[in-house]
This record gives sequence, C-alpha cells and structure tokens, in this order.
Amino acid sequence: MVLTLVSLTFLGWFVFSIYFSRSGKQHEGLVWDGNLKEGANPAPMWWFWLILGSLVFSLIYLMLYPGLGSHSGLLNWDSGSHVVRSEEAYQAEFGENRRMVRDAPLTAIHANPKAMASAQGVYNRNCAVCHGYDALGQANLFPNLVDDDWQWGGSPAQIEQSIRDGRQAVMVAWGPILGEQAVADVTSYLLALSDSPEKDHPGKMIFDQYCTACHAPTGGGMPAIGAPNLTDDISLYGNSVEALTESIANGRSGVMPAFGERLDDTQIKLLLALLTANTDPKLLVNTGASTADGESEGPDVSADEDDAAVKVTYDLLDAVE
Ligand code: HEC
Ligand code: HEC
Repeated sequence: MVLTLVSLTFLGWFVFSIYFSRSGKQHEGLVWDGNLKEGANPAPMWWFWLILGSLVFSLIYLMLYPGLGSHSGLLNWDSGSHVVRSEEAYQAEFGENRRMVRDAPLTAIHANPKAMASAQGVYNRNCAVCHGYDALGQANLFPNLVDDDWQWGGSPAQIEQSIRDGRQAVMVAWGPILGEQAVADVTSYLLALSDSPEKDHPGKMIFDQYCTACHAPTGGGMPAIGAPNLTDDISLYGNSVEALTESIANGRSGVMPAFGERLDDTQIKLLLALLTANTDPKLLVNTGASTADGESEGPDVSADEDDAAVKVTYDLLDAVE
C-alpha cells in the first residue's frame, strides 16, 4: 500500500517538475551541432495530459476497487464473490438439466438428438484435436473411437476409465533384445497370423516366448494393459511390414491424457454416450457405467424408466458444453 502511494506520488511530482520547473533555466554549457540545447525541445503537451489522465484514473480505480493493501474498495467488489454469483446463476439455470443428463441411462441420451449434439460439442472441443472430428483416428497415432475394436476395452466402464484417468501404453523396444533376424521373423509371423498361421513358422517360437505375456497366447490382446489384438487387420500404428517392424523393433508408448480433472461428470457422461452410440444397446444396460459418486445406473433401470427418461426434455442442454 505504502509502496503504491509513494510511487504514484513520485511519478506525479516527476512529471510536473519536468514540465513546469524549467522556466528559462536551460543549461548554458551544453550545445550540440551549433544550436541544439538541452531542454530546448520539450515533449508535447498532449503527452503530459495523457500521463496526468492515467494518474487520475489509477487513483479513482484504487478508491473504487480493492488494490490498496486491505482497503476493499468503495464498490465492495471482489473476484471471489463474483465467481460465486455467476456459479449460482449458472446452477439455477442449468443445474437441473445437467443433473438429469448425468443420471440418465446411456440409451436415453442416445435417443435424444439434442443431448447427442451437446456431446458432439464437448467432443469437438476436447478430443477432436487428436482423434479427429469424425473420431476415426489420425496419423497412425490416435486410435479410431467409432469402430468396435478397443485397445483398452469397450465396455462403458472401461471407456469411462480411459477418459477419466487417461492411458499410458508401454510396449518395449524388442530390437536390441531379439536382434534383426528375430524381429523380421516375428513380423512375418504376425502378418501370417491374421490369415492362417503355420505351426512351424520361425516367428512362432519367438512370439510364444516373448509376446504372449501381454498380447495373449492367441495374439488377441489384453485390454487391462492396453495390449492390442494383433490378429485382426485393425491396428493403431499400421499393418505394413515397415510399420510392424518399427513397432516391434523400437517399441511404442501411446499416451491418452486424463480428463477427469478437466471435465465434470455430466460432460464425461455425454462423451461416454457419444462413444457408445454404435454399441449394441443390450450390452449397455447391464454394464453399469458409474458416475464419479459411485452410482451405477445400469442394472437397475427398468424398460419403463428408460422410456420415461427418453421423453425428458433437455431444452437448456446447450449450456452443458
Ligand atoms: C509388456 C507387455 C508387452 C509385450 C511383452 C509385448 N507387447 Fe506389443 N504392445 C504392448 C502394448 C501395451 C502395445 C500398445 C502400444 C501403444 O498403444 O502405444 C503394444 C503394441 C504392439 C504393436 C503395435 C500394434 C498396433 O496396433 O499398431 C505390435 C505390432 C506389437 N505390440 C507386437 C509385439 C511383439 C511382436 C511382441 C513380442 C516380441 C510384443 N509386442 C510384446 C505390450 C506388449
Ligand atoms: C493429446 C491427444 C489426445 C487427446 C486430446 C485425447 N486423446 Fe484419447 N487417446 C490418445 C492416444 C494417443 C490414445 C492411445 C493410447 C494408446 O496408445 O493406448 C488414446 C486413447 C483413447 C481411448 C482408448 C481407445 C481404445 O481403443 O481403447 C479412448 C476411449 C479415448 N482416447 C477417448 C478420448 C476422449 C473422449 C477424448 C476427449 C475428452 C480424448 N480421447 C482426447 C490421445 C488423445
């Protein structure tokens, strides 16, 4: 407080003294270029008024708003209560709709175009940069989210966990461990695996020994650790010989960031609905995706309640985004 006042006063005095104290007393001794004397060319007056204007503005501002030590300002404004007031207004207007979406069964959200449009909005803002606007994945780095091949599991609970907590995949680099020939063998074995694997393929022994711990004996993958199915033709990093060799020799470590802190329960529920839109509805009813407070809306939702929930109007849903 003292510092603010002292510096404002000093600034005021400084500006005044420059403009009004020089009356005639120019320094005789200092002359450049024949006629250029120090102080001969003062800064224009508008500049002085500008500085004076901002000084007065600062003083009025400091009187009205908090800014001087513990002085709370004549208007009694503070950012904390400002936030609280807008939060209250927001809750009063949209809170009920948001709660309804949070607690609605996924199938009810699927049936509501307005809710699904909000979900797409949440998706576009948070996920599209990586997974693409159509969620088809991109750049052999970000997985497709609309097919039914899920590296980390496709139940609502597993997808919710992917979104809330993020995922960190670890596939070590096998090049240094196995050597070039073995990497080539196991690559060609994987290419054969999607058709009809020969029993005595040279890559089979390597696969059984080094890879099945994570990718499962069949090569079908293990969702719990994000080890993908290697027997289908869907692949994140590519199925060409070059891409497979790169994956195996140098390893892969895809990271899906966690959104549990950035998005609230309603937004996560909407995303979950968006990503399960193509899932067989029968699979959704009994999986019991949970909201953060541990409720499970799956098993105990009867068909009647389902229908009733579909009719719920989400008129103000836009705000959810
Ligand atoms: C410690 C567990 C683990 C072991 C052992 C392991 N992998 Fe993996 N593998 C993973 C994980 C996890 C991923 C997913 C990496 C990612 O998403 O970034 C992966 C990804 C891959 C991919 C890329 C798949 C795609 O969708 O593009 C290939 C190919 C692969 N592994 C082959 C192998 C082979 C061959 C072996 C044996 C030499 C092996 N893995 C051993 C965990 C493992
Ligand atoms: C910074 C880029 C990035 C953003 C933003 C991002 N993701 Fe991801 N996501 C990834 C990557 C990379 C993976 C694959 C991780 C791996 O290799 O296993 C992934 C994986 C996933 C998976 C698991 C897929 C599977 O096959 O099991 C889901 C579900 C997912 N993301 C949903 C979302 C949603 C919903 C959002 C928006 C809230 C989002 N992601 C935002 C990069 C991103």
